[in-house]
Amino acid sequence: MLRYLAYAVILPLSLCVGILLYVVCNVWLARRSPLFNLPGPPSPGWRGSHLHRLMNSSTSAEQTEKMVKLYGKNFRVQGAGAADQRLITVDPVAITHILNRISVYEKPWQSRRLISHLIGEGMLASEGNMHRRQRKVSNPAFSQQNLNAFMPIFFQKAEELRNRITGLIQDREKGTKIDVLHWISRTTFDIIGLTGFDYEFNAIQDETNEMYLAYKKMFDVTLNKGEDWKLLIGIFMPILWKIMPTETNIIVKNCKEVIQRTGERLVREKKKALEDEDESSKLGKDLLTLLLKSNMSDDIPDGQRISDQDIFNQISTFLFAGSDTSSLTLTWTLYLLSKHDDIQTRLRQELQGLRSKLSDSWIVVNEPPVLDAANCATFFSALDRAPLLDMVVRESLRFIPPIHSSLRTANQDDEIPVSEPIKMRDGSVQSSFKISKGQFIHVAMESFNLDRSVWGPSAWEFDPYRWMKLPEEVKKQPGLYPNIMSFSSGPRACIGLRFSIMEIKIIIYVLLTSFAFSEPDDVIKSNMVLVRPTVRGRGKEGNQCPIVIRPC
Ligand code: HEM
Ligand SMILES: *[C@@H]1O[C@H](CO)[C@@H](O)[C@H](O)[C@H]1NC(C)=O
Ligand SMILES: *[C@@H]1O[C@H](CO)[C@@H](O)[C@H](O)[C@H]1NC(C)=O
Repeated sequence: MLRYLAYAVILPLSLCVGILLYVVCNVWLARRSPLFNLPGPPSPGWRGSHLHRLMNSSTSAEQTEKMVKLYGKNFRVQGAGAADQRLITVDPVAITHILNRISVYEKPWQSRRLISHLIGEGMLASEGNMHRRQRKVSNPAFSQQNLNAFMPIFFQKAEELRNRITGLIQDREKGTKIDVLHWISRTTFDIIGLTGFDYEFNAIQDETNEMYLAYKKMFDVTLNKGEDWKLLIGIFMPILWKIMPTETNIIVKNCKEVIQRTGERLVREKKKALEDEDESSKLGKDLLTLLLKSNMSDDIPDGQRISDQDIFNQISTFLFAGSDTSSLTLTWTLYLLSKHDDIQTRLRQELQGLRSKLSDSWIVVNEPPVLDAANCATFFSALDRAPLLDMVVRESLRFIPPIHSSLRTANQDDEIPVSEPIKMRDGSVQSSFKISKGQFIHVAMESFNLDRSVWGPSAWEFDPYRWMKLPEEVKKQPGLYPNIMSFSSGPRACIGLRFSIMEIKIIIYVLLTSFAFSEPDDVIKSNMVLVRPTVRGRGKEGNQCPIVIRPC
């Protein structure tokens, strides 16, 4: 009896002491780490965090600027408690170092696990050899030649959206308020379905396709919601998802089954068609077919080929990485244009001027136009050179990048070079600083794009014309899309850059030559994995961007 009592006391007690020791030890280690010497705000208590305001898009730009003024372009903050000392950086030299050394700076296993849990270990979640292999097989699929073959799909879906919106406008004089985000995201989903695996979700017409609903629901329940603590715990202990599944887990599991079933069939059918000579000549040029071909090509060393499951995970990854990012960029662009009528009018004039170059044959209302890829490509090359459209797209991506910031962890101790000498907390002045294995880094994409010390005092305004006279300082800024961090930089930057620019420009062209956008609701940015619009005071209604649309 006494013995059991002893166990009942001693066991929990020693567990508590163990946890306490562990925490104390980690705090002690964090304070001894070289990063602790980097300037940063005072600790908000041992359980506190600086991240709330730095990650909240309503406050982040202001908050980050304040920190940069006080502590420099590389500063240290407290993440989840005193043991978690992190780096936040908007420094072009440090960012280039971090994003180029992909073998040292990896995505944290927590976010990789969350992504893998949803869409399998595709390119977004993998690291090391696995990532190298996937990227190598995928790169050829995004060649300019292949992208040109997608062009008719972009035009056709943009047309379909145009017809759908025309049908929604009740008052042709005053216009009708329409949630632009909702309709654009149905469009970008359709586009990724067709270009990704030759699959018609038909989401612009109705939202009934089983596969579409499964993907949409899965992304919604896990990403659009606030913090679900069980989901977070599950990332650390996936076994919990199995033994006490939450409602979210059950929904995700069911969605994954639907997706897996259809996905396996699609891969099987494509492979069979590829093996079959007669069939393969008729095959479309969707990413799935291109990946299968790329995997077969002699250029790929044997060790770098990928499996069926891998290929399908890749397609799911494109769907995940390429649908919301593009629809948000388009939505924010239309929102910004509705707030800047003068720019909208001038852009419309530019686009209408191009219209004459487009062969009339495909502007057919109320039936799917038959588009010729060569025609589309010729037209797009003119559209791509339209100067104001290009500046509007760049400026929108600079001003509201859909990815607010990106996380990395150092998998070994390292030294990070900086653009300007830093005065460390111990008084020494250094041209680099050290980071320890396991520490987190936030590459602050949005704040990098909005840095007033680089872009000048007007950096927090939407001004497409700034791109005609960029300050010298800007031209030194890295970025896959020049001088902005919206598509990241280095070997893990966005593979879909050209794809999305084509898609965005074509949809803006089609919408702006048909409609005028005005009187948007009071929309604010919310950082929910991606930067999404909500109406001020009506956050509970979810993400939306209502704008008045009328024919023009
Ligand atoms: C405006 C639209 C888009 C934006 C702003 C965007 C932005 C980004 C960014 C910032 C990253 C780096 C993420 C990180 O390191 O944390 C990324 C990676 C990626 N993006 Fe995009 N993206 C867009 C559209 C697309 C599209 C259309 C596709 C595919 C069709 C795509 C596929 C990917 C993939 C596969 C990766 C992972 C690359 C790797 O890790 O090697 N993205 N994107
Ligand atoms: C972000 O900040 C705004 C303004 O301070 C606040 O109203 C909102 O609730 C915050 N959002 C989150 C998710 O904390
Ligand atoms: C890729 O190629 C390898 C080797 O030829 C093959 O075993 C594998 O099944 C291929 N993957 C797919 C998805 O076809």
